[in-house]
Amino acid sequence: MRHSIRIGLIGLGQRGLATLTRYAVIEGAEITALGDLSAEAVENAQQILSSQGHKRVPGYVGESQWRKLCESPNVDLVYLCTDWSSHTRMAVFAMQKGKNVVIEVPAAMSVDECWALVNTTEETQRQCMMLENCCYDVFHLGIMGMVEKGMFGTITHCEGAYIHDLRHLESRWRTESTQHHMGNPYPTHGLGPICQLMGINHGDRLISLVSMTGLNNINNTLIRTELGRSILLQFDDHTPRPYSRIQTICGTDGYAQKYPQPILQLEGKEPLYNTQAEEFIYSFQNKKIKRIIEEGITLGVENTMNYTMDRRLIDALLNDTPLDMNIYDAVLWSCVTELSAQSVALGNQPVEIPDFTRGNWH
Ligand SMILES: NC(=O)c1ccc[n+]([C@@H]2O[C@H](COP(=O)([O-])OP(=O)(O)OC[C@H]3O[C@@H](n4cnc5c(N)ncnc54)[C@H](O)[C@@H]3O)[C@@H](O)[C@H]2O)c1
Repeated sequence: MRHSIRIGLIGLGQRGLATLTRYAVIEGAEITALGDLSAEAVENAQQILSSQGHKRVPGYVGESQWRKLCESPNVDLVYLCTDWSSHTRMAVFAMQKGKNVVIEVPAAMSVDECWALVNTTEETQRQCMMLENCCYDVFHLGIMGMVEKGMFGTITHCEGAYIHDLRHLESRWRTESTQHHMGNPYPTHGLGPICQLMGINHGDRLISLVSMTGLNNINNTLIRTELGRSILLQFDDHTPRPYSRIQTICGTDGYAQKYPQPILQLEGKEPLYNTQAEEFIYSFQNKKIKRIIEEGITLGVENTMNYTMDRRLIDALLNDTPLDMNIYDAVLWSCVTELSAQSVALGNQPVEIPDFTRGNWH
């Protein structure tokens, strides 16, 4: 077993600095390199490291210095928190330089980028994971436990979303990328947990989608699976709607939803609402993961989804065990960015979803 994972963190904006702060409590991981376009951002990050009692580390400042970071012998894992357009380019290069890589969401913005990630991961045999933190949401983890016990029967339909009022977000690149996107630019927070619940890539696969974007860039995408099940995904970051990822699960023997209020309805039982529903659902969480969540709460972390994701990632790399999410998950959940826009451009026509596993989804 390794003793430490040395991380080179690229992209020290809002998410990158939050990541750096989070890693202060992740034992077995150390930040050994920092990269950003701006010297000020790197200096801010160095100050955070100092405040955590660490020494300064090599900083890579400028448009193309991230390549040098990827080549550094002091880095095992390249951690990408840059804007969407650079994720795949950086991840591919990092793997070619022998590094494992993790990528903030979405991992790729086009189907071509998805294939580039798959091909490079297969060729280099490196690890490549997308940092889909919503797969560590406690409600989702509880539902996963119930699904594994068959409590919903056959899952027939799921709904997910990213509904988040970001009208006042200062990030120019993000606002512009979203406004110019014709489909759903940010599908993975909704889709990732649903694919896990439905066993997508493990006995079923996504085969096609139709997508519609209305006024104010509100997008609805409907996805069909090989077994004939359906998924409804929504994106809306530009209205005063309350935050929601919906998280609706419909099965032959049960129904659950997280937003706007938790509800659980199991066949033949009284429905449960709010705290009662949550307590029941949470009791089915995987015990190992539950211990990590409790550890996070004891440590006083701000967000247990992020803590659980970080802890599970570093533990898997230290022990050389499989990561919770693989490259086929990353690209499948990300490809909806381009395919939803394609469907909209075609007047809401169905668009095929590639099988990135090349037949290995059974
Ligand atoms: N999982 C979540 O909950 C969550 C939350 C927020 C953001 N994110 C994701 O995190 C990523 C970053 O978002 P953000 O809000 O922090 O953006 P940001 O604009 O605040 O930060 C991006 C940083 O990347 C740097 N950068 C860009 N090009 C670079 C290059 N060539 N070399 C080095 N640095 C470069 C920029 O200088 C900037 O500091 C996005 O993918 C976003 O979707 C995820």
